[in-house]
Amino acid sequence: MSKLKEEKNDVMEKVVALCKRRGFVYPGSEIYGGLAGTWDYGPYGVALKKNIENLWWKFFVDSREDMYGIDSAILMNSKVWEASGHVGGFSDPLVSDKKTKKRFRADHLLEEAGVNPSGMTLEQMGQKISELKIKSPDGNELSTPQQFNMMFKTSIGSVDGSDTTVYLRPETAQGMFVNFKNIIDSFHPKLPFGIAQIGRNFRNEIAPRDFIFRVRELEIMEFEYFIKEAEWKEKFEYWQEQMKAWFTALGFAKDDIREIEIPDGERAHYSKRTIDFHFKYPHKFDEIGGLAYRTDFDLNNHIKSSGVDLSYLDPSDNTKSVPHVLEPTFGLGRHVLAVLTKAYTEDELGGEPRVFLKIPANLAPIKIAVFPLLKNKPELVAKAREVFVTIKKEFGAVLFDDNGNIGKRYRRQDEIGTPFCVTVDFDTIEKDQAVTVRDRDAGKQERVGIAELSQFLENKLNV
Ligand code: GLY
Repeated sequence: MSKLKEEKNDVMEKVVALCKRRGFVYPGSEIYGGLAGTWDYGPYGVALKKNIENLWWKFFVDSREDMYGIDSAILMNSKVWEASGHVGGFSDPLVSDKKTKKRFRADHLLEEAGVNPSGMTLEQMGQKISELKIKSPDGNELSTPQQFNMMFKTSIGSVDGSDTTVYLRPETAQGMFVNFKNIIDSFHPKLPFGIAQIGRNFRNEIAPRDFIFRVRELEIMEFEYFIKEAEWKEKFEYWQEQMKAWFTALGFAKDDIREIEIPDGERAHYSKRTIDFHFKYPHKFDEIGGLAYRTDFDLNNHIKSSGVDLSYLDPSDNTKSVPHVLEPTFGLGRHVLAVLTKAYTEDELGGEPRVFLKIPANLAPIKIAVFPLLKNKPELVAKAREVFVTIKKEFGAVLFDDNGNIGKRYRRQDEIGTPFCVTVDFDTIEKDQAVTVRDRDAGKQERVGIAELSQFLENKLNV
C-alpha cells in the first residue's frame, strides 16, 4: 500500500475510533458481535445528522416557493417496484468465494486489481477475473459473476406467500412519483415544481464497507423536479449549479468535490443523463450525491401500471402532458462522513498534541460548553450553572461540564467540535462579572461580560 493511501486509511480509522469514543456513531447490534452494514448514531452523531438535514431542507425546500415536502411510507405496494424497474434491474454484480461462500462485488475486486470495470458485462468481468487470476480476499477461487437484486424482501401480514411480498424501499423517489397526483390535486402547483423527501432506504449491499459510506440502511435527501421536456437541459445546468452551491454552503472547498459525467451504458436504468458528485473521502473520491435526468420514465410507467392519469394540465393553454423529471439526490450518511473526515484535524496547542473536529459552527452538535473553573467551589458551580441555563435557553445545543480539570474538558469539547467554551472563574464573581470565552480552532481566549455574552456568541456563531 502506498504511503498516501496508508495515511488516508489512517484518518478513516481515527475518525471511526473518535466516533465510537465520543458518541457519534457506534457499530450496529454491537453486543451481539455486530451486523455488517449497520451503524447506530449516538447523541452527537444524531445532532450532526439533524443539523445537516435541517440545513438541506432550508436550502432546497423552505427557502423556495416551488418545492413541496413529503414523508412517504417505507413499505409500498410491490407493483411500484415492478413499474419503476427495480424488481428487474436494481442489481449489482456478485461473485462468491467457492470455499467460504462469502460474497463480494465483482466490480470492486476488479477495481482493486487496477481494472476499470465501468461498462463491462458480467461475462467480461468473469473473463478478466480468471485472466488476472483474481482470488477472494481470503485467497480462494471465485464463482462466475451473476446479478444480485439489492432490494430487501419481506411479507405483509401473517401469510408467508408470494402475493404478500413487499420490499423495503431502495429509494425515496418512488414516494414522490406515487404522490404526484396528490400534490397536484391539493396544491395546484405550476410547472416547474419539485417534491422533496428525506428518508430511510434499504439496499442489500453485497459488501458493505468504508464505515458509514456503504451501508445496508441509508438515508437519502432528494427531490423530483417536474419540468417541461423542452427545458431539461437548461434546468439540468441550473440544478448542477445549485448542488455545487449546497456543497459550498456545507463548507466544502472546490477541490473537495469532483463532478463525474456518467457515460452511456453505465447510468441507472431510468436516466438519460447523470452527473455524480464525488467527495474527497479518506478512502478515495467517492459518490456523495448525483443529478439524474429521469425523463418521463417513472410517471409513464406508473400510468401504464396503475391506470391512473398522472399527466399535468397546463392552465395557460389547457394542454395535457406527462412532465419530465430532474432528480438531485444526496446521501445523508455520506454527508455526515464527509463533514467528519474533512473536520478531523491534528495540531499542537500549548506544546501539546491535540485532536479536534473543525466542524462549521452551524453544523456542530454542541455549540457552546460552559464550565466552572473548579468543580469543588460551590460558588463557581452555581454561577456557571446560572450562565449555562441562560444561554441554553437561547442556543439549545449547550452543554455543562465540570468533570476533570479544565484542560481535559477543553480536549473533550475539541474532539466533538464544540466551537466555544465558556469558563466561570473567581474573577467572574469577585471582580468583573465576565467570563472567559475560548475559541476551538485557535485556542485563543477572551474576556466577555456576562451581560454581553449572548450577543457575543450569537455574532460569533452566526445564528
Ligand atoms: N433516487 C436515487 C437513487 O436511488 O440513488
